[in-house]
Amino acid sequence: MYSEIVMDHFANPRNVGEIQNPDGLGQVGNPACGDMMAFYIKVDDNKLSDIKYKTFGCVAAIAVSSIVSEMANGKSLDEAKQISKKAAAEALGGLPKEKMHCSNLGAEALVKAIEDYESKN
Ligand code: FES
Repeated sequence: MYSEIVMDHFANPRNVGEIQNPDGLGQVGNPACGDMMAFYIKVDDNKLSDIKYKTFGCVAAIAVSSIVSEMANGKSLDEAKQISKKAAAEALGGLPKEKMHCSNLGAEALVKAIEDYESKN
């Protein structure tokens, strides 16, 4: 039911981890399924210079975190904020319909981390 790309990102999540003293931190959770995600960012010259995350969740949530971190790395803050849940799901070769809510988490956590940075700067 999952694409090969999803399974690859689940088995080998990119950029997983935590950044000490991040410039921005975004945390989201879905009360319905109990999944949680935290995105840590470093910002340099208005661009994302480093992204890490910790995800407690399903296969799709982990794959979404991984792909969003890859899609956003090096992008300007405005560009990164435009990464939609749809774009993340498409980059993963699609997600099963009942798993589309998992892609919301990744896009939301990243936007929250950027907003956290912007509120402090
Ligand atoms: Fe809820 Fe995946 S089942 S984030």
